Amino acid sequence: MIKSILSRNAGETLRIGEIIGRCLTTGDIVALIGDLGTGKTCLTQGMARGLGVSDSYAVASPTFTLINEYPGRHVLYHLDVYRLTGSKDLEEMGYEEYFYGRGVSVIEWAEKIVDIIPETAITISFTYLDENSRRIEISAPDKRLEEISSALSEGGF
Ligand SMILES: Nc1ncnc2c1ncn2[C@@H]1O[C@H](COP(=O)(O)OP(=O)(O)OP(=O)(O)O)[C@@H](O)[C@H]1O
Ligand SMILES: [Mg+2]
Repeated sequence: MIKSILSRNAGETLRIGEIIGRCLTTGDIVALIGDLGTGKTCLTQGMARGLGVSDSYAVASPTFTLINEYPGRHVLYHLDVYRLTGSKDLEEMGYEEYFYGRGVSVIEWAEKIVDIIPETAITISFTYLDENSRRIEISAPDKRLEEISSALSEGGF
């Protein structure tokens, strides 16, 4: 099953992220897939808000550090693996501590490390439609997807 939604501007993507963020819980892995500038970081900023990360943190892609960590209702580990060629570098840095720890892991460019993304992950794909619109497609194990879909519907998406 896939939940497909249309975001008509960056503000909507933030709100979609916030709603999803409120549904996230300890141990969740969110794999973000999509081309440059399609809204992965924007959605992550919304998820941070939904996870209760303080607005005093400016959530941005962890380009030089690979991973940023933000305290919230659950710790948010924000990874951006754009510069990696595969999962080997992550294995060397002990990614299991994040993926299988108590926080929530959100990974931009997750398609680069598909071999270590578990089947239980929530996968969110972005497609550029025009300057302001994006198609956002969410897939997850049935129960999680139902929960997220109904929260999104209640929020008007
Ligand atoms: N509907 C939309 N949702 C999200 N972003 C949008 C939307 N419409 C326009 N934008 C713009 O697209 C850009 C998305 O940037 P963002 O950094 O979130 O992309 P990204 O997928 O993380 O890119 P990168 O691959 O470089 O990390 C922003 O400048 C934002 O204002
Ligand atoms: Mg980004």
